[in-house]
Amino acid sequence: MYETRVLSGMRPTGALHLGHYHGVLKNWARLQSEYPCLFFVADWHALTTDYESPGEVEKNAWDMVVDWLAAGIDPSQAVLFIQSHIPEHAELHLLLSMMTPLGWLERVPTYKDQQEKLTDRDLSTYGFLGYPLLQSADILIYRAAYVPVGADQVPHVEFTREVARRFNHLYGREPGFEDKAKTAVKKMGSKKARLFNELRTRFLEQGDAEALQRARALLEEQQNLSRGDRERLYGWLEGGGKKILVEPEALLTEASRMPGLDGQKMSKSYGNAIGLREEPESVTKKLRTMPTDPARVKRSDPGNPERCPVWQLHLVYSDDARRDWVWKGCTSAGIGCLECKQPVIDAVLAELAPMRERAQTYLDDPTLVRSIVADGCDRARKLAVETMRDVREAMGLTYS
Ligand code: TRP
Ligand code: SF4
Repeated sequence: MYETRVLSGMRPTGALHLGHYHGVLKNWARLQSEYPCLFFVADWHALTTDYESPGEVEKNAWDMVVDWLAAGIDPSQAVLFIQSHIPEHAELHLLLSMMTPLGWLERVPTYKDQQEKLTDRDLSTYGFLGYPLLQSADILIYRAAYVPVGADQVPHVEFTREVARRFNHLYGREPGFEDKAKTAVKKMGSKKARLFNELRTRFLEQGDAEALQRARALLEEQQNLSRGDRERLYGWLEGGGKKILVEPEALLTEASRMPGLDGQKMSKSYGNAIGLREEPESVTKKLRTMPTDPARVKRSDPGNPERCPVWQLHLVYSDDARRDWVWKGCTSAGIGCLECKQPVIDAVLAELAPMRERAQTYLDDPTLVRSIVADGCDRARKLAVETMRDVREAMGLTYS
């Protein structure tokens, strides 16, 4: 079985804000210490909607990588790279496009949704229809086991699973697959081979999941099997062909719904965001002037935190004791709104300070970021090349 890799990507949309930090980057930062992780800039995906104005993509990509680093994504743990620097993604996308039914792409929910939402753009393009398949190529080329994404992206991961399954079904059954599998089993030695066959039968005939686990474990500890044989046997064990591509699982990022300054979800396009590298003066001003409970006109009017976006921020940044202080003070007109905001202001500034500091290091010396990404691209490319070798071989494109 393949290494348990985590992969995720983000379109380069420019400077990131606290919504990205609480929704995505904190999660990535946790995962990078638990698994081998790959995080990339999906610049080709940005072009599927912004092909008419590609000018910003590159600057946005570098800004975004700086923001990742600022937010604690650690290049000594995770591999950071840019999609368009790994041309193998495009090759896999092309090859997968040969076997992907059009109906599958047309049925992906984001396809119609986005076309209806982004009415200012003409999205009746080949590239836009293929958006989820390009994403599949991104995922499958690294044989990622887990893909951390928000709920809106889950259908794309599901789609990717189907593409992988179809690919393995079509090309995993190489000529003489059964014979090759049986020969491979014998290489395990007669005792283990017998056990393996027994476990396989138990799984295939009785659906015994424990037998499947044990058989997999047995394969895992076999030192003398080639990679090809091992993958053949993983597939054969489950009654299928060789598993060339790995079916990924979505790791649903819990909707952090970081509230913006107006209480709606934080988003650059709503103008309610706080940037990760924003100056403290500007952050302070935004928070001091953000709206509160509209019914609390005068200082002496009691307020209702449920109707106040500042309360939403206390839910992110304050412990129970402070929330209690807010609740009591607000509903009894015991505290003023500026007083109530101050702990939030302090917490946001404290959260952003180390990010600004880290970002500064990279802004002072842009070659640092360039070399982190160059190194990430090298590492990613090695993995991509390995998968493509297997894919080409399976599809009869080796020309040896
Ligand atoms: N479509 C994703 C988004 O808009 C970005 C993306 C592209 C991605 N390729 C990916 C995410 C592969 C996870 C895995 O957020
Ligand atoms: Fe909102 Fe706090 Fe003012 Fe109450 S006291 S209205 S919670 S800012």
